[in-house]
Amino acid sequence: MSSWDKYWENNTGGEVFVSSEGQKNTELEELWRKFFHRKQNLIKKKTKVLDIASGAGSIFSSIDNSENFNLYALDGSGEALEKLKTQMPYVNVLKYKFDEYATKDIYYDIIVSQFGIEYSGKEYFRKIGELLSDEGSFKLIVHKSGSMIDKRTQQEIDCINLLNDTEFFDLAKKLIKLDNDNIEYKNVFEQFTSIEPLIFNNLSSYKNSILNQGYYGFRQLYSNQERYYKKDILTWLNNLEYEKDISYSRLLSMSKATINLQDINKIKHDLYSSGLRDVEVSDFNISRADGVLPLAWEISGNK
Ligand SMILES: C[S@@+](CC[C@H](N)C(=O)[O-])C[C@H]1O[C@@H](n2cnc3c(N)ncnc32)[C@H](O)[C@@H]1O
Repeated sequence: MSSWDKYWENNTGGEVFVSSEGQKNTELEELWRKFFHRKQNLIKKKTKVLDIASGAGSIFSSIDNSENFNLYALDGSGEALEKLKTQMPYVNVLKYKFDEYATKDIYYDIIVSQFGIEYSGKEYFRKIGELLSDEGSFKLIVHKSGSMIDKRTQQEIDCINLLNDTEFFDLAKKLIKLDNDNIEYKNVFEQFTSIEPLIFNNLSSYKNSILNQGYYGFRQLYSNQERYYKKDILTWLNNLEYEKDISYSRLLSMSKATINLQDINKIKHDLYSSGLRDVEVSDFNISRADGVLPLAWEISGNK
């Protein structure tokens, strides 16, 4: 199972980018709501819309006049599309990797993507020119280097690197498996207490990070171990370690997908040379109590 399938299997709300309370981001929802409202007034026929790397349908769930559109959601994860289909059965789903998707008989009037197209690789933006109908238009929200999402991703990657470098899980499991009077126990205990300050000093500001879950969770289980079966503590450690490894590959793919200014110039050039026009790039920022924060690049244009 791919790391995205695993992610969607465990995701209950159908959204990737949510507030600390788990709520859908209102600024993004508003962006898409307004975008589709404007399109509805401009286009007469039943407009074909493609969402690239749709996930469970965050963009389409923001449209409040969806009956005016013929909606197509493309994603590499079957789990994501199944989730989408349960909530929006009227959407056509296409289970493809965008880099492998090809069609001869269908052109889309509108192409959209939210934290999606960039996962295929920067060289695939030009495919929009091939898939868009004449007079069609596109809008993309893509990961931006230095954004709040990028900073959080880097922070989570650093947390996982620290768990790996310190061999936290191996040591924690040995501490549980070995009896206190075992000759090796003292050695493992010393190793664990030598890495503990390193972990403690790097606890993440993000309270749900795997580092925080591992550190606080294990501390609680270890100090109360007489109340638990050893096998239950070991299962907890194994599950969290598995989650760490699955998250790691997803986080690395997010980091790789992030677009910097140099990439933007190349992408703009590619979009123009694939027959598109009026290509515009701007910052998509959100306002929070601590100021205006960069969230993504907003890229739009026409054919
Ligand atoms: C960050 S999520 C965004 C999902 C959705 N657009 C949203 O905003 O909630 C990235 C999505 O890209 C999909 N994905 C990753 N690589 C892909 C590829 N090469 N082709 C198609 N989808 C891909 C994943 O399955 C995942 O659903």
